Amino acid sequence: MSQQPIQFAYWVPNVSGGLVISNIPQRTSWDFDYNRKLAQIAERAGFDYALTQIRFTAGYGADNQHESVSFSQGLLGATEKLKVIAALLPGPWNPTLAAKQIATISHLSNARIAVNIVSGWFRGEFKAIGEPWLDHEERYLRSEEFIRCLTGIWQEESFTFAGDFYRYRDYSLKPKPLSPRPEIFQGGSSRAARDMASRVSDWYFTNGNTVEGIRQQVEDIQRKAAYNQHQVKVGVNGFVIARNSEQEAQQVLQEILDHANPDAVKGFQHEVKNAGSASPEGEGNWAKSTLEDLVQYNDGFKTNLIGTPQQIAERIIALKEAGVSLMLLGFLHFQEEVEFFGREVIPLVRELERQKERELAHG
Ligand SMILES: Cc1cc2nc3c(=O)[nH]c(=O)nc-3n(C[C@H](O)[C@H](O)[C@H](O)COP(=O)(O)O)c2cc1C
Repeated sequence: MSQQPIQFAYWVPNVSGGLVISNIPQRTSWDFDYNRKLAQIAERAGFDYALTQIRFTAGYGADNQHESVSFSQGLLGATEKLKVIAALLPGPWNPTLAAKQIATISHLSNARIAVNIVSGWFRGEFKAIGEPWLDHEERYLRSEEFIRCLTGIWQEESFTFAGDFYRYRDYSLKPKPLSPRPEIFQGGSSRAARDMASRVSDWYFTNGNTVEGIRQQVEDIQRKAAYNQHQVKVGVNGFVIARNSEQEAQQVLQEILDHANPDAVKGFQHEVKNAGSASPEGEGNWAKSTLEDLVQYNDGFKTNLIGTPQQIAERIIALKEAGVSLMLLGFLHFQEEVEFFGREVIPLVRELERQKERELAHG
């Protein structure tokens, strides 16, 4: 198990409707005032990162969607330590604009900006904005070139690249981002996603899953990364329902499921099965999700962070032992639950980490 403390990120609710496709009342808002306060609560609570989402159109909930880069910049301006990860979708973004925009934000935020390269799952969205819908392999080929260009532009004095999607000749970006350069996350769970992570990404972000399911992905990525002489870390999504008793937490889960919006969940299922199973081996995000799993956009119930603070802390340690370095978390009522998580769960995780270290030291 890594000696480094496990890190924590939360999903920024910059799209409306929260993180579940359910009509259960949620005290979560997508507006900036709510999110500014949430970011301040999160950094005080011990969160390391906030992840913004990019969506260009509504669909299955999420009627309103703030843009990810500008929203991230707003959150950075309202915080002091928190790192904010802005989602970038190749297609609408090209590496030239992204590298320039993020380099400037690196200067504005004392190097606290990072990026999450997403490859697209929502065909209707691409159609709505007139972007060609590439097939799964092509989407990942493009994302990989996008990442190679970002790192090249940020790191090399003069960058030259001839790819299938992007071309540069002696391009010199000034100013470069502050050092260390912005970290590059990527979201996706298919074989193509893992292969890409093992070659070019700093972080592989995957959907919720069981400890065993995550262990298999970690082994696959780390074996390939070693072969490629590349270093990559793993972050896993989980939806947290932390309550004083397990029964109370399970009851909240049941209420979320009972209030699920069946038409929206089925529509989402149709769309993501198309995106997830589209990968040739059928292992992408959502390829194996049940209808209940899909009530949380990224299979966050599967990670089973539902119970008492002690149970949740133990499950996080089990994931750490499986090779996870970062927990990406969603909540029902973000402000109060992020605060509760920082007060009740993170100290238990730290205590268990110290305990494990003592055990290791004493053989
Ligand atoms: C943690 C995480 C965050 C994601 N964020 C976004 C996002 O903000 N916008 C988006 O369009 N897709 C997002 N995605 C979707 C992925 O980029 C990708 O399109 C999807 O997982 C399907 O790819 P796959 O077949 O490799 O799993 C995210 C995925 C994960 C795991």
